[in-house]
Amino acid sequence: MEQKNIIAVLGGGGRTGKYIVTQLLSQGYSIKLLLRNPENFQLKSPFIEIVKGDAIDAETIRSLIAGCQAVISTVSQRKDEPLVASQATINILKAMAEYGIQRYVLVAGINIDTPFDRKGPETNTATEWMKMNFPVIQEDRQKTYSILSTSDVDWTLVRVPFIDFTDSKGEIVVSLEDCRGKKISAADIATFVIEQLSDDTYIRKSPFITNI
Ligand SMILES: NC(=O)c1ccc[n+]([C@@H]2O[C@H](COP(=O)([O-])OP(=O)(O)OC[C@H]3O[C@@H](n4cnc5c(N)ncnc54)[C@H](OP(=O)(O)O)[C@@H]3O)[C@@H](O)[C@H]2O)c1
Repeated sequence: MEQKNIIAVLGGGGRTGKYIVTQLLSQGYSIKLLLRNPENFQLKSPFIEIVKGDAIDAETIRSLIAGCQAVISTVSQRKDEPLVASQATINILKAMAEYGIQRYVLVAGINIDTPFDRKGPETNTATEWMKMNFPVIQEDRQKTYSILSTSDVDWTLVRVPFIDFTDSKGEIVVSLEDCRGKKISAADIATFVIEQLSDDTYIRKSPFITNI
């Protein structure tokens, strides 16, 4: 990515997203931030442009992504709301193609399967639990991976276990096959996600990241 100063962020008002927004700003990036309820967002910065709307709305995503060099998403599924993961990715990829944007980094759980996995017992149990208890959401997340794997953008699907919403930082262990630990701090997720904007290592890959 040659130029990377304006990043479109979805989910930036959420718990992990706020760490990403804060770290992006501290690293000198500008942000176009999608919020459904901007009045609830406390952080004020001249480097944040807020776009009000919903990720499942294609036109909203078009205006969000216009003028950006990359996209980051930590959108999660809210109870009793329309499925968001796959539709958001469809909208994002369409707008990225329109504007010639190549880099897309998104965060999801460890329950998504890829053909490259060698999940151990704990990761398998977590995956099966999700399939059993939230089959529709799980299927939508899995569909997101299918959509990504047939797209030609430079995507990275970052898979994370239980998140500790703290500023604490530790060693980040990365694996393309299995989740090697039980949890990760939100600050470390933010660091890893932002590093991907200027690192090709995990392009078109789905790394598990964890603290151990
Ligand atoms: N929490 C965990 O322990 C955990 C564990 C594994 C993986 N994950 C994954 O990690 C990511 C971040 O999790 P989190 O716990 O930080 O999420 P979160 O606090 O629930 O925040 C999710 C964000 O997504 C936004 N969002 C949801 N639906 C939307 C829509 N239709 N349009 C626009 N924005 C929408 C929410 O906005 P509103 O405020 O407007 O609803 C919120 O800002 C998610 O992908 C989640 O599945 C989380």
